[in-house]
Amino acid sequence: PAAPRINPSILAADFVNMQADLARIATADFAHVDVMDNHFVPNLTFGPQMVERIQATSPIPLDVHLMITDPDRWAPGYAELGAASVTFHLEAATDPVALARRLRSMGARAGIAIKPGTAAEPLYDILGEFDQILVMTVEPGFGGQGFMPETMPKLRALADEAKRRGSDVWLQVDGGISDATIAQAAAAGADTFVAGSAVYGSQDIEAAVTRLRGLARA
Ligand code: DX5
Ligand code: ZN
Repeated sequence: PAAPRINPSILAADFVNMQADLARIATADFAHVDVMDNHFVPNLTFGPQMVERIQATSPIPLDVHLMITDPDRWAPGYAELGAASVTFHLEAATDPVALARRLRSMGARAGIAIKPGTAAEPLYDILGEFDQILVMTVEPGFGGQGFMPETMPKLRALADEAKRRGSDVWLQVDGGISDATIAQAAAAGADTFVAGSAVYGSQDIEAAVTRLRGLARA
């Protein structure tokens, strides 16, 4: 899908009506799937068994965001079940480059995420190993938190660096993205936008996705 991409986070969906809530985001680009292990972050969602069912049910491809310890061990399983992209955290990985290569060899887009307090510079020399970079705009763990504008200079620096290197890496933001904040993330260089509460909290989900896309383009 072309930029700007809108990836609704199913963390904000109704977990016992997941099939219906997946159907409601059919006009979006990717279903963003937050896997949390109650260890890397202080919250727990679901693992590969549930994500496999989501993969089988979703009308759009899956963008899996792993907020887990030891992604080196667990991330390939998500590529194997057919996720379009698998993003793991720099803070948690032992060998990010080896893991990215493994994910790509399995046919998934490889993504790397950094928390608000993590510097982006260590990624500059390994940009080419990744298909997407996720700049967290809240502390990972929960939906419905406020967007952190102080992460924008880091995003802008990453966008500049990617441009300098002729890289076509996607730059993703996640956390507090809404009608009120998406334009500033787009202006700082993001092309892929995760939104949980802003999408599932609206009565008309299709309209919310279209509106967010428009605001990201402006
Ligand atoms: C937070 C998750 C996000 C979350 C975003 O740790 O990674 O994907 O669902 O939710 P909102 O859009 O409500 O901030
Ligand atoms: Zn996420």
